[in-house]
Amino acid sequence: MKWLLLCFFLQVVVPKQHKADTTLGILILVNKEHKLPEGYRPHDLVPIDEAYNKGVMNLLRSEAATAFARLCAQASEDGIVLWNRSAYRSDTVQRQLYENAVKRRGEEGAGKYTAKPGHSEHQTGLTVDINSTHPSFGKTSEGVWLKEHAYLFGFIERYPLEKEHITGYAYEPWHYRYVGTEIATYIVENKLTLEEYYERKREHAHVPAR
Ligand code: DAL
Ligand code: ZN
Repeated sequence: MKWLLLCFFLQVVVPKQHKADTTLGILILVNKEHKLPEGYRPHDLVPIDEAYNKGVMNLLRSEAATAFARLCAQASEDGIVLWNRSAYRSDTVQRQLYENAVKRRGEEGAGKYTAKPGHSEHQTGLTVDINSTHPSFGKTSEGVWLKEHAYLFGFIERYPLEKEHITGYAYEPWHYRYVGTEIATYIVENKLTLEEYYERKREHAHVPAR
């Protein structure tokens, strides 16, 4: 019986651990089960256009930075003001954030909102927190505009409402991940998360890849 309980704990409660595949480029999957190598830092980080930045952590990978500036410029034309709050983070910074979150919420609470070092998409340089970090952002005109338009610039809402059981994180309507326009369009049209996209890709050869 003890062994059965232990097996259940290891299978269900403890997430399986894999190395994140850094050869996937902008399609890299990083989550609770996929960890980046220690000290990973993308080679092509550049600062976000100052017109669209208010964050100290203002770096993105070059392709994502260009796409983010285009996204913000289009938003601005539509009367919507968007800006970076937090983009690339090193594993040292992510460690500090996680430890602070554990002090505030305890380990279980922290795990819903903050990734452990090595497990945060912010370390890929492909992710940007936009404007707010409050769930009500999703209902603001900026949040609604983003949800409708971000994929046209290659970004997906990474932690959607009611997908917590798949992504492992609570609803974060401000956290957008760059995957390029083709895959972003496929993901949005099929209402998928990045985890579900990879699951489909494993099962069906016709799913687009970059
Ligand atoms: N808030 C997301 C899960 C992160 O810490 O990367
Ligand atoms: Zn984020």
